[in-house]
Amino acid sequence: MKKKLWAGRFKKSTHKVAEKFSASIDFDKRLYKEDIQGSIAHATMLGSEGIIVKKEATQIIKGLRQIEKEIEDGKFPFRQELEDIHLNIEKRLIEKIGDVGGKIHTARSRNDQIALDMRLYLRREIDEIIDLVEECAKRLVGLSEKNISAVIPLYTHVQRGQPILLSHQLMALYEMLKRDRERYIDCLKRTNEMPLGAGAGAGTTFPINRKLVAKLLGFPEITNNSVDTVSDRDFIVEFISVSAILMMHLSRIAEEFVLWSTKEFDFLDLGDEFTTGSSIMPQKRNPDMAELIRGKTGRVYGNQVTILTLMKGLPFSYNRDMQEDKEPMFDTVDTVKSSLEVLSAMLQSIIFKHENMREALNEGFITATDVADYLSRKGLPFRQSHEVTGKIVSYAEAKKLELVNLDISEFKKFSKLFENDLYNFITIDGSIQSRKSYGGTAKRNVQRMIRSAKKQIANW
Ligand code: ARG
Repeated sequence: MKKKLWAGRFKKSTHKVAEKFSASIDFDKRLYKEDIQGSIAHATMLGSEGIIVKKEATQIIKGLRQIEKEIEDGKFPFRQELEDIHLNIEKRLIEKIGDVGGKIHTARSRNDQIALDMRLYLRREIDEIIDLVEECAKRLVGLSEKNISAVIPLYTHVQRGQPILLSHQLMALYEMLKRDRERYIDCLKRTNEMPLGAGAGAGTTFPINRKLVAKLLGFPEITNNSVDTVSDRDFIVEFISVSAILMMHLSRIAEEFVLWSTKEFDFLDLGDEFTTGSSIMPQKRNPDMAELIRGKTGRVYGNQVTILTLMKGLPFSYNRDMQEDKEPMFDTVDTVKSSLEVLSAMLQSIIFKHENMREALNEGFITATDVADYLSRKGLPFRQSHEVTGKIVSYAEAKKLELVNLDISEFKKFSKLFENDLYNFITIDGSIQSRKSYGGTAKRNVQRMIRSAKKQIANW
């Protein structure tokens, strides 16, 4: 049995079963770059503060760089008996440069080391996720501009409600992603704090320079309280929570596309590149990618429950339970990034079927609200306008006519307030044009939304 780096006070070595059970190297090797980056900054600081000799620091840094190359070339001997990425790298460093390698762990504990690795890792991934969210948001604005003339029913309860511009709804999706972007930026602020120097949790007896380490690693802040520093995983909880909200949004977008690509709706084509055939039904074109985005949302919710449950009721400060924080974090990163990548590409291939969308507005008394609004503008209390319009709808239904096809004399039977100008408001385009309230569907408004989105995007 090889001796563990921490085995000084132990008479027996770890049971094989326990060793396998507790090893995290299979998944935390993903943090190798951050672990090495953090150790290089730490060694640099130890050297510059005279805690170790400068020459030793140089030797350590050289060794760490060689190790990084070994890992990248697939030549690094990962060893389960060395538990995790930190001990694997430290042991290898000692093998390569001799006992001086053991100085890297001066004024440091794995408790603050892992916090550093995770923060370094996550801030980079959040940055990349923000880029992907921005890319999808931009594509939505592009689609809104391109399809500005298309009209669709606004659905409530999946029932046709009122006519709107397709771009109005696409810009609603933009609003969701804009909020997601802001949430990630906010979460990044709290992730971007430098934890090293907390030691095991009480701080250290060495005259370290935490600000220097922060500067070397590009952290704008250092954490305040060493106990909190090794206890805190809020930044991961927050990241996964923000991601759960994002995935909820992506699943709604995906669901809309699934629905709209059915023969029943037939509002869009998703593109062959993003649909698959059925192994038995030759006519099928299945929206698998959209379905998978919708399905993968469940994983992120699962990860959110995992991390919250993991942290719940944990005594201060570090507990080994916390090693379990990595897999939900990695899985969330992978799921969010791949879903955004697919969505972004899918948005480029989508073709909206303008005619079918307009067709869907030609049935179902879609401008009934406009009739009621008309009466109310002429002074009738809305409740009464609603009732009168309800009767007109039922009359038209019996005659199998749409509202716009009724003669003015027929309208007048229900209320004397109706005049010929009614028809300006109850055609599809008239209805849309008259919804001029701020944020409403009138074309001018939607164009304004697009303009202001483009201005926002220019500042991202
Ligand atoms: N592999 C451990 C983790 O991920 C590193 C910290 C271990 N600290 C300890 N005192 N055992 O949480």
